[in-house]
Amino acid sequence: MNHTPDLFGPTPTTREPLADGAWLLRGFALDQADQLLDAIQRVAGQAAFRHQITPGGHTMSAAMSSCGALGWVTDRHGYRYSDRDPLTDQPWPKIPDILRQLAAEAAAAGGYENFEPDACLINRYTTGAKMGLHQDKDEEDMDAPIVSVSLGAPIRFLFGGSARTDKAAGWKLEHGDVVVWGGPSRLFFHGVAPLGKRAEHPVTGPVRYNLTFRKVRI
Ligand code: SIN
Ligand code: FE2
Repeated sequence: MNHTPDLFGPTPTTREPLADGAWLLRGFALDQADQLLDAIQRVAGQAAFRHQITPGGHTMSAAMSSCGALGWVTDRHGYRYSDRDPLTDQPWPKIPDILRQLAAEAAAAGGYENFEPDACLINRYTTGAKMGLHQDKDEEDMDAPIVSVSLGAPIRFLFGGSARTDKAAGWKLEHGDVVVWGGPSRLFFHGVAPLGKRAEHPVTGPVRYNLTFRKVRI
């Protein structure tokens, strides 16, 4: 049967468990990928991608931007959420409706209803860029899940446990894949391996984007 999205709704996706309360929704964002990439470019037109500095003085290999009431920033003084873009001293761009809606739908597909993110961090990876294992723990609201959308070149996503030393399993995340984690796995360690030399996608070339939606304030 010829499933055209217009007649039969979005492309059906599978739900793969990664851990307790954590799901990989393969292809969940595929139908909207082009619009999502356009929205990212619009946000970046106002809040440019930049390489932030960790409190330890390291330059992050992923370039970042944010949209929403709050954006995630790091500098010599620490990690935190800020209601202004430190580059412009202006509020962050609003979360585009298409992003907000996708985040809520993905959260619901993972069993988390009524997700209303107030922050969306946008990561841009080029060859060799990575994100070491970490917890998303700068948020006040730990009842809300994290929703993570992958676009562009594929990367290896690492998802561990509640301790840094817990063994992390690897999952290939491709264009349109969405990961949702919360509840028992809300604070689980995760990261991505360096973007491979040959990793690319027809639309973005050798670049990967990741959107992570969070609810910071209760
Ligand atoms: C993150 O944890 O902030 C990013 C993860 C990813 O790029 O998939
Ligand atoms: Fe994270």
